[in-house]
Amino acid sequence: MSRLENRVAIITGASSGIGYAAAKLFAQEGAKVVVGARRQQELDKLIEEIRVSGGQGIAVAGDVTDESYAEALVEVATGTYGKLDIAFNNAGTLGAMGDTPTLTKDGWHETINTNLTSAFLGAKHQIPALLNSDHGSLIFTSTFVGHTIGMPGMAPYAASKAGINGMMQCLAAEYGPKGLRVNSLLPGGTDTPMGRSVASNEEMEEFVKSLHGLKRIANPEEIAAAALFLASDDASFVTGTAMLVEGGVSINKT
Ligand SMILES: NC(=O)c1ccc[n+]([C@@H]2O[C@H](COP(=O)([O-])OP(=O)(O)OC[C@H]3O[C@@H](n4cnc5c(N)ncnc54)[C@H](OP(=O)(O)O)[C@@H]3O)[C@@H](O)[C@H]2O)c1
Repeated sequence: MSRLENRVAIITGASSGIGYAAAKLFAQEGAKVVVGARRQQELDKLIEEIRVSGGQGIAVAGDVTDESYAEALVEVATGTYGKLDIAFNNAGTLGAMGDTPTLTKDGWHETINTNLTSAFLGAKHQIPALLNSDHGSLIFTSTFVGHTIGMPGMAPYAASKAGINGMMQCLAAEYGPKGLRVNSLLPGGTDTPMGRSVASNEEMEEFVKSLHGLKRIANPEEIAAAALFLASDDASFVTGTAMLVEGGVSINKT
């Protein structure tokens, strides 16, 4: 069964990791995908893979902190495919990391801009189009960091991602009466370029795995599967949720 047949989806952060896996899965499930990130070449490779597998999609490169890019993604979705049903605002960065007294205001702003302001800009331009869909689903990628767990050196990242969850709850309340579902997805450690930058050597990798109840980190495809759930009618009664998909990192104490 194709769970996203005849749906049109925007997926940001699609040039690698979770977004890349989600774009392939959404297309495999029948969605026409509009994929975004800054690196055109990686997006072109993704679209080629999707087309070879019989799917449909289009790449639009740009920076998610730029409001005109948020507008352009929606224009391409509605202009090319006639509508927008799903927006997966997934692009993100670890941003400024380190002991808080060493961090700069610029680093703080850059992290908030890339992770939180981009989510707001995406939502602002996606919501009017999503409201025309009978299956509207707006999804943000957040994290367990700053939600269930504090991690040293990650205050800007945690603040930006916790901000997403707060915004998501308000949007869910704002647009629930019009049938639009709004949720965030909170992955645990995931084997992507971002995940590997934290687990940067064997010792760190073992440490990061040990933090999780399942004693491993996720494959991007496992997180993409949860995004598919939120995007599809399988989650038709799910809104306003910060959904943990984190291998038990929040409950683990050993
Ligand atoms: N990996 C983990 O352990 C983990 C855990 C919890 C949450 N997350 C979240 O999951 C999401 C996806 O991350 P990932 O793990 O898949 O990492 P990733 O492979 O490094 O992917 C990050 C994506 O975000 C895009 N991006 C970053 N800054 C951007 C900007 N200014 N404009 C447009 N695109 C931008 C990157 O594309 P370009 O570089 O081509 O622009 C890339 O496609 C992020 O929001 C991250 O915070 C990850």
